[in-house]
Amino acid sequence: MHKRLANGYKMPLLGLGTFMAPDGQVAYEMVKHALKTGYRHIDTAQLYHNEASVGQAVVDSGIPREEIFITTKQRFHMPLDNAVTAFEESLQKLKTDYVDLYLIHWPNHDKEVNQETWRLFESLYEGGKIRAIGVCNFQRHHLEDLYETAKIKPMVNQVELHPGLPQIWLKRYLDEQGIATESYGPFMKGGVFEEHYGETLGEIAKTHKATIAQVVIAWGLQRGIIMIPKSATPARIEENFKAKDLILTDEDIKAVNKLSRGKRVYTDPDNNPWGVFKPYP
Ligand SMILES: NC(=O)c1ccc[n+]([C@@H]2O[C@H](COP(=O)([O-])OP(=O)(O)OC[C@H]3O[C@@H](n4cnc5c(N)ncnc54)[C@H](OP(=O)(O)O)[C@@H]3O)[C@@H](O)[C@H]2O)c1
Repeated sequence: MHKRLANGYKMPLLGLGTFMAPDGQVAYEMVKHALKTGYRHIDTAQLYHNEASVGQAVVDSGIPREEIFITTKQRFHMPLDNAVTAFEESLQKLKTDYVDLYLIHWPNHDKEVNQETWRLFESLYEGGKIRAIGVCNFQRHHLEDLYETAKIKPMVNQVELHPGLPQIWLKRYLDEQGIATESYGPFMKGGVFEEHYGETLGEIAKTHKATIAQVVIAWGLQRGIIMIPKSATPARIEENFKAKDLILTDEDIKAVNKLSRGKRVYTDPDNNPWGVFKPYP
C-alpha cells in the first residue's frame, strides 16, 4: 500500500510514529520490532530526540536502506546556515546519506519566515539528499502564502487527523493541490476508545472482529491518508500493522466521519509556540 507523491516517489501508506519514544532502548526496540513485523516507514523528528536510535535500529535490521522510508522534520525555523547544520546532524544521527521525506514541523506566524525556510527545503531537495519535501500543521492559508514564492509545492502535509477531526475539507483541498495528506495522533490521545467515539468505533470493530485501533487506521488508509500510529508495545505494533488488511464498508467510513466534533487534542497550528524562529542549536 503506497501513495505516489507529486514527484512520483512512493511513500508507504502505513508507518510507525515515534513521538514520545525516548532515545535509547525504547525507540530502538520499537523500530526494530516494527521492521520485523513488516513496517517499512518510520516517522521521526529532530524534536523527538530519538533519531540516533531510529537510525541504529534501521541499520541493525539488516533491511536494505532503500526499502525503508524515513521521515524527519526540522525542529524550528532558523538562519540558513544553522538550518543546513541541523539537517546534516539529522542525517548523521539517522546514519544515512539521505532522508525520504523532510518536513517543516510547524508553521511560523510570519509568512516570510515560512517562505524562507521553504526556499532552504527546495535547495536541500535539489541537492539530492532528500527524496521528497513537505510541511506539517499547515492550514490552507499557510500553503497559499508559500505558493507566492515556492518553486516546488509541498508534497505532503502532516496534520492532526482522527475521528474527532476528520479534516474532510482540508483533505479535499490537498487532493486538488496534489499534496498527500498524512495523519498524526490517530487515537486522539486515547479519546477514540472513550465515550461516543468508543461506542461507535467499538460496534464497527465488533462486526469486523477487529479492534478500535484497527478501525481507525483502516478508516484513514481507505481514505488515501498516510497513517503513522505510534506504539512502543510489541503486540500493539503488530495489531496496528494488521489494519492494512481490514476492509471497511462505505457505511462504516461514513459513520466514522460523522463522529467529527472538530476536536483538536494537539496544538492549534494558528496559535502554536513551536514554529519559532531562532538560531540553532
Ligand atoms: N507533525 C507533528 O506536529 C506531529 C505531532 C504529533 C505526532 N506526530 C507523529 O504522529 C505519530 C502518531 O501520533 P501520536 O504518537 O501523537 O499519537 P497516536 O499514534 O494517536 O497514539 C499513540 C498512543 O496510543 C497508544 N496505542 C498505540 N497503539 C494502540 C492500540 N492498538 N491500542 C491502544 N492504544 C494504542 C500508544 O501506547 P504505547 O506506545 O504504550 O503502546 C500511545 O500511548 C507520532 O508518533 C509522530 O510520529 C507528528
